[in-house]
Amino acid sequence: MLVLAIETSCDETAAAVVADGRRILSSVVSSQVAIHAEYGGVVPEIASRKHLEMISPVISQALAEAGVSFGDVQGVAVTRGPGLSGALLVGLSAAKAIACARGIPFVGVHHIEGHLFAPFLERPVEFPFLALVVSGGHTHLYLVEGFGRYRTLGRTLDDAAGEAFDKSAKIMGLPYPGGARIDAMAQEGNPGAVRLPRPLLADGGLNFSFSGLKTAMLNRITKHPVTIPGSEANDLCASFQQAVCDVLVAKTAVALERTGVTRLVVAGGVACNSGLRRSMQALASGLSIDLRIPAPSLCGDNAAMLAVPGNHYLEQGHVSELSMDVTATWDMDRVGEGWS
Ligand code: KG4
Ligand code: ZN
Repeated sequence: MLVLAIETSCDETAAAVVADGRRILSSVVSSQVAIHAEYGGVVPEIASRKHLEMISPVISQALAEAGVSFGDVQGVAVTRGPGLSGALLVGLSAAKAIACARGIPFVGVHHIEGHLFAPFLERPVEFPFLALVVSGGHTHLYLVEGFGRYRTLGRTLDDAAGEAFDKSAKIMGLPYPGGARIDAMAQEGNPGAVRLPRPLLADGGLNFSFSGLKTAMLNRITKHPVTIPGSEANDLCASFQQAVCDVLVAKTAVALERTGVTRLVVAGGVACNSGLRRSMQALASGLSIDLRIPAPSLCGDNAAMLAVPGNHYLEQGHVSELSMDVTATWDMDRVGEGWS
């Protein structure tokens, strides 16, 4: 089956054509990052307007790069939520219009479902598996028992990991979004140089908290300003990154032990982080866990990842109605509700 996938939940307008939920024929991502950087974060109204401008050209490009036309597409998968309502509405309306005009089915997919099935575009993962999703809006541990069968084991109580990276970068005077920049600077720094807290590290639970770490960064910068570029700034980035990774790894280890599962997926934009990739690989090899972290191009927001669950649902006949609305908040544990 040839599925056209559409993603507009935040600041990337993306479309992809994927065959059988496995083979990417095209994946186009148009980022608005440069526009929002001026404001230090995503401005919802601007995001919606930009999606409106870009949605048709991005879909056309995805079809052209795949060498197919609308007539070849057999189904549409689109992010229904969570995300910015106005932004989501653009993608959902486009999906409905295409489905309606071509007489093909469409399905609304949870954005995080896309992230955790991204590695399937490289090679399928057997169920059940544990998934750590770390992005700008999420830091969640899920037990994934099948498509639509997710159990949240832990989550952030305040900031998401990506948010912690971006806010700390901002505190340091780096442009939004600063996660990748901290990663690059950290590679030149000493992770043991600055003592920073590891919130909830040893509480025995599976929830996360990153706001205290952000405050610690603010206090440190106020007392010890750093120049960029410079070795002190690199040391601070390396120390911050190490603190985040230590917490993510420790909680994941507890979740693996508690569930007894032997397969682990790490996904979402923060899974691009070189320190986290290294730390997770070390954890996995120590515990003989089958670890899957998708290539960086599949970690950040893209549409191809949505085609994995989308293709499955369409094949199973889980088709969405034209009356379906976006949902700004959507609990993963309830995704499969009402299905047989
Ligand atoms: O998954 P994603 O593209 O969008 C959301 O759904 O949020 O994740 C974006 C987040 C941003 O916070 C960004 O700073 C972070 O991922 N990020 C990184 C790196 N690359 C992207 N954080 C740390 N290190 C990186 N290399
Ligand atoms: Zn995302």
